Amino acid sequence: MNLKEATSIEDLREIHKRRVPRAFFEYCDRGSYSEQTLRANSADLQKIEFRQRVMVDISARSVETTILGEKVSMPLAIAPTGLTGMQHGDGEMLGARAAEKEGIPFCLSTMSICSIEDVKSATTRPFWFQLYVMKDRGFTKSLVERAIAAKCSALVLTLDLTVQGQRHRDIKNGLAVPPKVKLANVLDVMTKPAWAMSVLRGKRKTFGNLDGWLPDMKGVKSLSQWISGQFDASLNWKDVAWIRSIWPGKLILKGILDVEDAKIAAGTGAQAIVVSNHGGRQLDGAPSSISVLPGIAEAVGSKTEVLFDGGVRSGQDVMRAIALGARACLIGKAFLHGLGAGGEEGVRRAIDIIRKEMEVTMVLTGRRNLAEVDRTILMGH
Ligand code: GLV
Repeated sequence: MNLKEATSIEDLREIHKRRVPRAFFEYCDRGSYSEQTLRANSADLQKIEFRQRVMVDISARSVETTILGEKVSMPLAIAPTGLTGMQHGDGEMLGARAAEKEGIPFCLSTMSICSIEDVKSATTRPFWFQLYVMKDRGFTKSLVERAIAAKCSALVLTLDLTVQGQRHRDIKNGLAVPPKVKLANVLDVMTKPAWAMSVLRGKRKTFGNLDGWLPDMKGVKSLSQWISGQFDASLNWKDVAWIRSIWPGKLILKGILDVEDAKIAAGTGAQAIVVSNHGGRQLDGAPSSISVLPGIAEAVGSKTEVLFDGGVRSGQDVMRAIALGARACLIGKAFLHGLGAGGEEGVRRAIDIIRKEMEVTMVLTGRRNLAEVDRTILMGH
């Protein structure tokens, strides 16, 4: 199967798996510990059934909406994902360009390969920047200043990764950036020539935002060991006030899974929260994102926008989350499957697949636009 023949996110995943070295594919595809939460994210979404409605005139229909006041072509944004430029050379620049062409927001991760400035130079519209707070607050502040200089339209502060949930596959694969030259890795890369060419030609081979600050990663046994040295486990709600004071723009708090935390987050003045368990990559045994979405959406009210991620692999999934109170969904794995399968074109394909699935779901549930989508499109409501 090639990119042209792909008709679903699962197809893109298959191509991604074939094209990209195992260590990077599995970094994207897998979760922490027993992967119970990873599985629950998709499984719980798929359990939610739609009410089919017929004979409603839906000749004029639209999936357009706004996120944080900005017009978007559909309720979708690209989630911040680490090491994206290792799935495809210049991955973050290509992803940002694809999102721009498709009319949805792109969020750049702190742990990206391309830098804030690289993505700025590759795009014409503002993108979001995701921030991890490092122990070195001076450096953290400099990241925020770079996001301001690049005119990023929102800062996405991740709350749920002050330590890293262990991902067994990353350890077994010896995941490292730049890739470690081990015999097994070399053999794997030899069978992935298109990937090797794209990454070799790419602008950068290591974390672009951390250049100059990053100590040599050689000698670092694993990414999680490095993270535990740099990320700040003392992070608390007071730090959100500090971030608020140095970031003048829109603030999104990502990694909320509990009603109490959602209420505190809404009280910080952040414009949005992301209901998220980090794609099943952090607290294994935590509930699926979709199972806690309705309670959180109800608790925070309408002043704070509720964004959602965790298990979204189709337009049907996006519709389920919207019906249960999300303003929009973020895609991480689905985005990387598109990128790994075919660069910018692959990301556009992933977005287009989800858009078309949403449109058909909307028609068959008898709705003309997203304002008409609520719980009543679901069985049992
Ligand atoms: C980073 O955010 C990761 O989940 O690996």
